[in-house]
Parts: sequence; C-alpha cells; structure tokens
Amino acid sequence: MPDRCIQAHQANSNPLYMDIGSQENDPLKEVLDGMRQNRRFLPSKLFYDKVGSALFDEITTLDEYYLSRVEHSVLQNYLPQIAAVLPDNLVLIEYGSGSSLKTEILLQGLHSLQAYVPIDISREHLIAVSEDIRMRYPNLNVLPVCADYSSHIKLDLQHVDSSQMAVFFPGSTIGNFEKKDAVNFLTHIRGMIGSGGYLMIGVDLKKDLDILLPAYNDARGVTAAFNLNIMRHINNRFSGNFDLSAYSHKAIYNDSKGRIEMYLISAQDQVVTISGFSFAVKKGEGIRTEYSHKYSIPEFGELANCGGFEVRQVWTDDDNLFSFQLLVAR
Ligand code: AVJ
Repeated sequence: MPDRCIQAHQANSNPLYMDIGSQENDPLKEVLDGMRQNRRFLPSKLFYDKVGSALFDEITTLDEYYLSRVEHSVLQNYLPQIAAVLPDNLVLIEYGSGSSLKTEILLQGLHSLQAYVPIDISREHLIAVSEDIRMRYPNLNVLPVCADYSSHIKLDLQHVDSSQMAVFFPGSTIGNFEKKDAVNFLTHIRGMIGSGGYLMIGVDLKKDLDILLPAYNDARGVTAAFNLNIMRHINNRFSGNFDLSAYSHKAIYNDSKGRIEMYLISAQDQVVTISGFSFAVKKGEGIRTEYSHKYSIPEFGELANCGGFEVRQVWTDDDNLFSFQLLVAR
C-alpha cells in the first residue's frame, strides 16, 4: 500500500512515528485554569500517564466495569455485519487507542485495511503497542500519531477518499465530553474525514443505577486508585504537592445531566502548590476529575445529527447496556 496515503508521515523524519504537539493545549495551563474555578476540576486526559493507563486496563477487567466487556462482545458478535457494511481498503483511524484491545477485533475482522492510524496521548504506551501490532500484523501499515485528540488535531489525509476513511472511537470516551463539546468533536471528525466517511463509535447507554454506580465504585478500589493517580501524575509532571492520602474517590450519577461525575474529595482544609501556584482547598470540597455521559439511543442520534452525522446502524447487547454505532458523515 502506498505511503503517500498519509502525507504527514512522509514529511516526518521518523516515518514510523509522528508527534503532533499542540499550540492550543497547554496541559499545565489547563490544570491551573481548572484549579482557579469555583467548582474545581482537573482535565480527565491527565489520568493517562503510564501508571494511569495500566490502572485503566485493570478497570476494564473488573466484573463491575461492564463497559469494556460488553462492547467487546458486541463487536465480536456483530463483526461479520460490521465488516459487511464497510468498504475495502479502509484507513482505520483510532482516537485514544490506549492498548488497542478492541482494535484487535477489527484488525482480525476487516480485511484489506489500507492503514491503521492509532492516535494517543500516552507516548510510550503508543509506541510499545504499535510495535506489538506491527510484529503481529506484518502486512499492516501502522502509522501511530502521538497527540491530544481533544485539541482538534489535523491529519493530512487529502489523498484518501472520504468513503475509505473510518474513525474508530470505542469505549464511550465520547461520554467524557459535555454535550456541546461532544458536538464540536463530532463536527471536527466530520470535517477531517469528509462527507461519506465513517465513524464507528462506542456509546454507553442509560441504565439502572445498581449496574451503573458499581462500575465507577468497584469493590477492589481500582477506580479509586485510577482517580487518585491523576494527582500523582500532576505532582510528577508539574511539580505539584497534592497529598494523595488527604483525598478520597467519589463517583455519583447526576440524573438531570445523565452522567457519572467523579470527584476527589478533600479530607481537610489544605493548600496545594502546583508549579509555584498555591490553592487553598476546603475540607469536603470536591475536585471534579471526570464526566461520563450516558445516552439513550435517540438522544445520541440527535447528538450525531448535530455533529453532521447520520446513524447508519446500531448494535447492542441483549441487556441494552452498551451500543456500538456506525455513523456516516453527511
Ligand atoms: C474511558 C472515559 C470511557 O468514562 O467509563 C473508567 C474512564 N473512568 N472508570 C469511563 C473511566 C472511571 C472511562 N472512559
């Protein structure tokens, strides 16, 4: 397959790996901005340093965390149908590829891929995973891109037909965005792939709280460790001194907004310093670390339409816990 399909890689000195630094997104600035709000928050993408990525992988193996398990089985069960509606020669672009565990199913089931473009913010992890995939699929063109996809990255894909581009965005990561940001994100993807391009997206569905809440409050405390790790990451990366022993994990469902909200709750009045900037945190105060929106199928259809997509097909499990949706750019 011709390398010119992804022009940016030709221009890059290392054709096996591309790093897209972003001017708009300065993670330290985002942390400081978040800490300056009335309702403080830390950017969810900072969960995923090396330790955080490993903790997330552990979460995906928990009994309570149905999302990964169910999405995996939906993908596996409907793979023939999914493959049948997609054209040959696809460039498969994955946003937030992580350990590429679900991609594996597609790599097995979609034949004649033109290229696989994993995009992830966690550089070391991305390189290791890409190497592994290259070894196991020697005929596949693997073109990793290290980037923060929330910063509206630009891939130079003008030599690829829109109808041969498919973005893979599994895991219900779309749920991390607030609604207007989710629409912006979809609009951005639509602009990148063009009319006729595909988006394969995992979307977690609304459900009973007795299933939903344990998924974010697991018995072994892996989610708590994952949540706290964001502070450890910020300490290491931005000379911070968050006292991890003085915060605790909390995850609630906000019914009116239809989302899980994760917080780190301060056990005492305390002062944290990050890169020389100090912030007084009150006892009981919650610093928000994540939203995880849940949708009904019609709700997500509406969101997709607002972002310039039509829903072509929706696959779910028998219990309607999770959906995998094929969207086509209008
Ligand atoms: C990877 C963003 C989809 O929202 O369920 C897992 C991350 N947070 N446990 C999610 C997460 C807490 C996850 N996403």
